[in-house]
Amino acid sequence: MRHYSIPAAIAASLALSVLLGSHALAQATQADQREWVRAGQGGVLPAETAFNNADGKSGIFNVKGAVDMKGHPFFEVLGTNGRACVTCHQPSDAMGLSLASIRQQWQSNGGKDPLFAPVDGANCPNLPREEAKSHSLLLNRGLIRVGLPWPPQPRNGVPTEPEFTIEVVRDPAGCNTDPVYGLTSPKPTVSVYRRPRIAANLKFMTYEVGPFNAKRLAMINDRDPFTGKYMSMNIMSDAREPSLRTQAISAARDHLQVKDEPSADALDRIVNFESQLYAAQVDSRVGGSLVEKGGPEALGPRNLDKQERGLGDNFGTPLFHSFAMWNPASSEARAQREFRESVARGNDVFFKRPFYISDTTHINTVGMGNPMKRTCATCHNSNMVGTDLSAGWVDVGTTNLPYARVTLDNPWSEAKAELPLFKITCNAEARPHPFLGRVIYTQDPGRALISGRCVDVGSIVMGQFRGLAARAPYFSNGSAATLRDLVDFYDRRFNIGYTTQEKEDLTNFLSVL
Ligand code: HEC
Ligand code: HEC
Repeated sequence: MRHYSIPAAIAASLALSVLLGSHALAQATQADQREWVRAGQGGVLPAETAFNNADGKSGIFNVKGAVDMKGHPFFEVLGTNGRACVTCHQPSDAMGLSLASIRQQWQSNGGKDPLFAPVDGANCPNLPREEAKSHSLLLNRGLIRVGLPWPPQPRNGVPTEPEFTIEVVRDPAGCNTDPVYGLTSPKPTVSVYRRPRIAANLKFMTYEVGPFNAKRLAMINDRDPFTGKYMSMNIMSDAREPSLRTQAISAARDHLQVKDEPSADALDRIVNFESQLYAAQVDSRVGGSLVEKGGPEALGPRNLDKQERGLGDNFGTPLFHSFAMWNPASSEARAQREFRESVARGNDVFFKRPFYISDTTHINTVGMGNPMKRTCATCHNSNMVGTDLSAGWVDVGTTNLPYARVTLDNPWSEAKAELPLFKITCNAEARPHPFLGRVIYTQDPGRALISGRCVDVGSIVMGQFRGLAARAPYFSNGSAATLRDLVDFYDRRFNIGYTTQEKEDLTNFLSVL
């Protein structure tokens, strides 16, 4: 089998620079300059290739080989705004979209770049396209507008009667109070602002679940309308799409502004492409190759293809397996050795360092206690991707007050708020939010915008842990600028009391996945 030796990486980067022109190569030699794939540019996406980022390199691996991007519906302009799926799911960003790439596109093309299409690449579609401030949420936090109908659409053919009312308390972006696009418009819409999630490693994210408990399944899980099967409910921040096929139809409509639904053939090709693609970090600036023989078996996109979905649990089966081979002193250069030892310790912090998990809906409400002394891996328990193996929406506090951060520079400064703030008032007969009661302030109600349930307010589906270094910022609302910032959020949220060393180890560990 082939590993990423240096010649392979050079060959890959040459292959890509032929694709993108020498300009891209010149850019790629600078740390954190991204190689951008433009919608409809044609060329070939190699089966295996690597891309620079500030921490090293991320890689993609396509099980079925190289892909001709010419005529491929994931890469071609399907609708009216010049975008393709690849516009927001870039190979260089582990099939997500980094702030580095977004800013690079703005610098090159300004507001006319298709990424900044008014429909959702602006804070609201009615803002002047050429002005940076019309796109401040995308340019500052990497956020795309997601406009969801209110009240929620029927689910599994059953109408959804919401258990709460929603008011707009603060609307810096202006869209929720807009007479054409807002909550009181003829087509009442709630606009929330979310990070693109990664279109790779998806066998770990969305799949059919067996009918082990049909009654419980029917309460929580949606069926894929194409197969009639109950699905895992782990894609999108609010799990509104049961399958990759329904997701692709909605994405084409909402992001690409297609007039007619893509053909069955186009949908097949999109779903097949996403299903055969793996993405992960392959190289660490300090730690060296992450995919050399005898190294940790969870790392790199090739190994992901070989691994199975499953439950990694707290102290027993670490979901990212063992990093023990990076512990013993070896002949490697000191900086590299120390970094690898730090990653190995970080893996242990993730699995073994307990803290009190408290007041988290769908975790502290399922009979295991509140608080409960467990670890990061209690919520993040799915082998290889670190999501939740069960239907994965949880309110850990990223979007609900009092824990949600308000701005990136100064997370607690109300005066500089960028995101909308909603007031949710639950009906008297509804089951209230277990920790916040009947009146909840939130930047993004998450799953509740789909289920209409009060208990779901602020519950967000966990995103994958792979290729993190390639696609800052983090969390659904982009509220953690760096991985260290994400670790600091948890330290504060759960009063963990990590030492500086533990924080650094955990950060280094996340950066190699
Ligand atoms: C304008 C940017 C943009 C474009 C273009 C776009 N997406 Fe996305 N994609 C997003 C955002 C934002 C999310 C997360 C939405 C949410 O959480 O509510 C997402 C989520 C996804 C996910 C879910 C991954 C997961 O683990 O949750 C998949 C799969 C996906 N997109 C595929 C596609 C496909 C296929 C296309 C083309 C038909 C496409 N996207 C076009 C922005 C985009
Ligand atoms: C109580 C459950 C819970 C615990 C414990 C928990 N998380 Fe999370 N984690 C979540 C939820 C929910 C999200 C999704 C939030 C969002 O995207 O807004 C998330 C998202 C993440 C992400 C993905 C970020 C992204 O941009 O997709 C990472 C990485 C992460 N957590 C790391 C950790 C680490 C490290 C710890 C231990 C310090 C930890 N988590 C503990 C629930 C938890």
